[in-house]
Amino acid sequence: MARPEPILTCEHVWKIFGKNAERIFDGVPSTSEITSEDLRAASLIGAVREATIEVAEGEIFIIMGLSGSGKSTLLRCLSRLIEPTTGVITFEGENLLTKSEKEMIQIRRHKMGMVFQHFALMPHLTVLGNVAFPLEVQGIDRNSRHQKAREVIDLVGLSDRESYYPRELSGGQQQRVGIARSLAVEPKIWFLDEPFSALDPLIRREMQDEFLRIQSVLSKTIVFITHDFNEAIRLADRIAIMKDGAIIQVGTPEELVRTPADSYVEEFTNDLTKSKVFTARSVMAPKDPSLPSGGSVPDSIKIEEIAAEIVASEQPYDVVDAQGNIVGQLAREAVIDVLVGN
Ligand SMILES: Nc1ncnc2c1ncn2[C@@H]1O[C@H](COP(=O)(O)OP(=O)(O)O)[C@@H](O)[C@H]1O
Ligand SMILES: [Mg+2]
Repeated sequence: MARPEPILTCEHVWKIFGKNAERIFDGVPSTSEITSEDLRAASLIGAVREATIEVAEGEIFIIMGLSGSGKSTLLRCLSRLIEPTTGVITFEGENLLTKSEKEMIQIRRHKMGMVFQHFALMPHLTVLGNVAFPLEVQGIDRNSRHQKAREVIDLVGLSDRESYYPRELSGGQQQRVGIARSLAVEPKIWFLDEPFSALDPLIRREMQDEFLRIQSVLSKTIVFITHDFNEAIRLADRIAIMKDGAIIQVGTPEELVRTPADSYVEEFTNDLTKSKVFTARSVMAPKDPSLPSGGSVPDSIKIEEIAAEIVASEQPYDVVDAQGNIVGQLAREAVIDVLVGN
């Protein structure tokens, strides 16, 4: 399936920390030639190295990697909260690196929503005041901004808390306020840096569900950072895996599980329940017309959801596409292979 045009791209982006970092590229024909050894020899830190990604309109693009792999630095480079050392960043067809700081402030204010793991709600403002704040900064009048703020507060399920102060809210509720605040300006792109990582596992799952529900309403373009592969799998359309500042692999959850680029990626996928990732289409065999069929399942359904039924069936199931055409068949042996992790 063809993806829509990218709305945000970064190409060959580097962020190197250290004195005179940019000089490391002097006389180097291609930035990709700089190695870890070069950086070490110059006492520099390559927080982001040669990163290239394309984020399509309306997709949930996850950047995932261990702590220290460069995720936050890359995300901040995308909005130029951190200045990349070199590279190109394009947003809505324009190179962001040619924008003045003033223009960047406007772009961030009007087009980018941001949520961080630890962010400060303003303690002296109510939920309503906090969520309306970015609109106040835009100079929007009180009535309009309160109306918009109430809309997004409702969206995150906090209508009954609108006059509460941050200290009167739980961690999960505060994070919802942060989410509502980031959505108040109706951003074109939504950046989230480990927004749920500080929450208890149960609350985290609830927030993930909530996030997916909100996204089903808003269809934003999203760049979401996590160090939790299970979270990535649950939320992502596509995942970019980062290691030591570099992007090792970009793919759908299924692609990463099926063909991990290296042992680092494979490690993440090891503990994963494969039946949550694989679809009927991805494990089906060609249809054998001589066999009677036990039933039919949609091609996009996850194995997890149909495993019990098919394992209990003597006959293979037909796999049908959205138009109702039979595109293959699924036998109980194939399903068992997925379940036992083959
Ligand atoms: N301001 C800075 N100065 C020097 N090194 C930094 C700075 N910010 C981040 N780093 C380093 O860059 C690397 C990537 O950090 P970060 O992007 O925060 O990783 P992640 O978000 O994946 O945990 C780390 O080694 C970190 O220590
Ligand atoms: Mg980080």
